[in-house]
Amino acid sequence: MIRLENVHVRHKARGGGLFRHDSVHALTDATLEVAKGEIVGLVGESGCGKSTLARVLTGLQKPTEGTVRFRGEDLWKMPAARRRKEFGASVGVVFQDPSTALNPRMSVGRVLRDPLDVHDRGTEREREERVGELLDLVGLPGHTLRALPGQLSGGQRQRVAIARALALEPDVIVADEPTSALDVSVRAQVLNLLVDLRARLGLGMVFISHDIQTVRHLADRLAVLYLGRIVEEGPARGVSAAPVHPYTEALFSATPSLLEHTERIILTGPVPSAVNPPSGCPFRTRCWKADDACATAFPAPDSAPDGHRWHCVHPLTQDGPPSHPVPSAFPAHTARSTS
Ligand SMILES: Nc1ncnc2c1ncn2[C@@H]1O[C@H](COP(=O)(O)OP(=O)(O)OP(=O)(O)O)[C@@H](O)[C@H]1O
Ligand SMILES: [Mg+2]
Repeated sequence: MIRLENVHVRHKARGGGLFRHDSVHALTDATLEVAKGEIVGLVGESGCGKSTLARVLTGLQKPTEGTVRFRGEDLWKMPAARRRKEFGASVGVVFQDPSTALNPRMSVGRVLRDPLDVHDRGTEREREERVGELLDLVGLPGHTLRALPGQLSGGQRQRVAIARALALEPDVIVADEPTSALDVSVRAQVLNLLVDLRARLGLGMVFISHDIQTVRHLADRLAVLYLGRIVEEGPARGVSAAPVHPYTEALFSATPSLLEHTERIILTGPVPSAVNPPSGCPFRTRCWKADDACATAFPAPDSAPDGHRWHCVHPLTQDGPPSHPVPSAFPAHTARSTS
């Protein structure tokens, strides 16, 4: 459906002053594919480029370099009108905060009608019917149509946002932290709704969340980002249960599962600046396996037959639970403990 090839996104650094010409490396050399009906989870610390990747996938952000393919065709070489019409209708977006994502002055009915009007779908009558259908699909009662977003609860608003994303029958939904602005009590409901819709409509989905355990259970495939780079990617089970990149191991060990005994790796020290990322592997400044070889170049991809791919000079072995003794020359800002 959508394929990113060697995509880079650089922003002008905020602030300015002396460093006016610096740029933020929000995304570096990202290659990723989203197939029909598949859930791809994106994980990584705050600022690592997840939202940037989501914006590229939805055509909201034009890459500084690299290609975005939509059904094989170069998205940014399509005439703008076709890009809006075809790509715009095929990819739905759900953002983090439903209170800002919806126009406060538009009734729910109009919010849901709007994409149908803009894309000139069906007759007047058919549009009315479709709006009713969408409301049913996300489990909202009919009287919600006349309500303004401000009169709904957070969970209801996010249901409206999801219904709007589904209006044009997209093939893929990109959901960037769709539950993080919601009360814990309604998070599960909204998640279940997304999973249910995926099953019923055969939707593909790109799912971004800080809740790593949720992402790993929901996703078919996982991509792990660190400082703008996809450092590891592959089947969700393999990536979470037998990570190959030390960063992935640290990330998953930080939220231990109740069932398995995990050795907890605590990463301390700051994430390096995205304005001046470290040479070579960006994780080497916090990695307990790093040596001089890691500083020379970003490691070439390596892969397993199941499509699991990673970029690491010192990959963790794939057989058995990893056990890495703390080396004596362990950097002071990285520590390990057992939980
Ligand atoms: N418009 C912009 N101008 C300058 N820098 C930006 C801009 N948008 C994002 N960035 C920077 O790009 C990097 C990636 O940001 P992004 O929002 O993609 O991260 P994220 O992984 O979504 O983080 P979070 O988990 O906090 O949402 C960050 O360093 C961020 O400060
Ligand atoms: Mg984000």
